[in-house]
Amino acid sequence: MAVNLFSPLELGGITLPNRIVISPMCQYSADDGSLSDWHMVHLGHLAYSGAGLMILEATHVTREGRITHGCSGLYSEHNEAAMKRVIDQCRRLSNNPIGVQIGHAGRKASSQVPWEGRLWLKPEQSPWETVAPSAIAYSEGWHIPRELTVAEIKGLVDAFVSSAERAKRIGFDVVELHSAHGYLLHQFLSPLSNQRTDAYGKDRMKFPLEVARAVREAWPKERALGARITANDWMPGGHGPDDAVAYARELERIGLDYVCVSSGGLVGHANLNVGPGYQVPLAEKVKKATGIKVQTVGMIADAQQAEDILAAGKADMVTMARAFLDNPRWVWHAAERFGVKLDYPPQYARSRHDQWPGARIARNGWSGD
Ligand SMILES: Cc1cc2nc3c(=O)[nH]c(=O)nc-3n(C[C@H](O)[C@H](O)[C@H](O)COP(=O)(O)O)c2cc1C
Repeated sequence: MAVNLFSPLELGGITLPNRIVISPMCQYSADDGSLSDWHMVHLGHLAYSGAGLMILEATHVTREGRITHGCSGLYSEHNEAAMKRVIDQCRRLSNNPIGVQIGHAGRKASSQVPWEGRLWLKPEQSPWETVAPSAIAYSEGWHIPRELTVAEIKGLVDAFVSSAERAKRIGFDVVELHSAHGYLLHQFLSPLSNQRTDAYGKDRMKFPLEVARAVREAWPKERALGARITANDWMPGGHGPDDAVAYARELERIGLDYVCVSSGGLVGHANLNVGPGYQVPLAEKVKKATGIKVQTVGMIADAQQAEDILAAGKADMVTMARAFLDNPRWVWHAAERFGVKLDYPPQYARSRHDQWPGARIARNGWSGD
């Protein structure tokens, strides 16, 4: 019987060899936006994980749009050259598609990397001025952002396009717009963070859709364009599942090829009930109401759990973050579990369990030769 996880998927102009996606994951290890040797190793080894698509971490369209001093960017020639060096190396290791997530942190910019505390940057940590749709802080104590002018909003649309053009030159297969997790595009979508009285407040989708349209123009049709969207602020009066459906419909109309349905991150005190597959019902809702391809993400780690989501038609792709940090061989083990034969890099061919002497020896019970 065909295994859903390992069936190919047409996404825009590209084909994913399977439906397993490595979720974007900030590494906070860039230098003024430029990827480092850490990324070379981290992405290099995820590149040959067998996942049908790997998406690079949130990569910011301006210097001020970075979440932290260590965040990735695509706002300079240096950033572009450094990212190209890493991606060229990944291409030598695998033919599987690679994407990049582009975004702007808005009022959540100028913050500490997680291992420094994940709070706002203190005066001695070189903070910078943050911007947002309205002058409302993310949480108590956080920098109060400056409200963006209309001219600045237009400039940010251009910044998204410019980063997409850099991504095109680097040779990515996929660009993903980050409009979730409380970052700038999400800040425009939610009534809790967007209290503008101008056209960008009366129609909260206006700026995110302007970005989507402009990037769609610039990004080749023979590649794929998606967005990470949010389907719940988990706060009364916030952006909710019906708003996510309306937004996904507009993105589909503009010609985006997929959405990844996530939630949360808009405010520090949200009422989130996290558990296995907790965002799957949100993805399913968007999938049922639209024709756009849907990724589901969040607390998915078990291969059977992932397969069941796809078999039930709740999503088209399963996207995982922490499971891949924990076990970069997730795909190989899932393939083995479902009897699917994958090509391993030849250097690692002997790790395949059917190659071991006296095949199927318990992983921990073999002493090697
Ligand atoms: C280390 C780390 C970095 C992350 N960075 C990003 C990011 O750059 N962009 C994003 O949309 N989500 C980011 N996330 C969220 C994940 O992509 C994912 O949505 C979340 O962790 C839930 O999936 P999981 O349960 O499979 O980890 C990050 C998560 C982790 C653990």
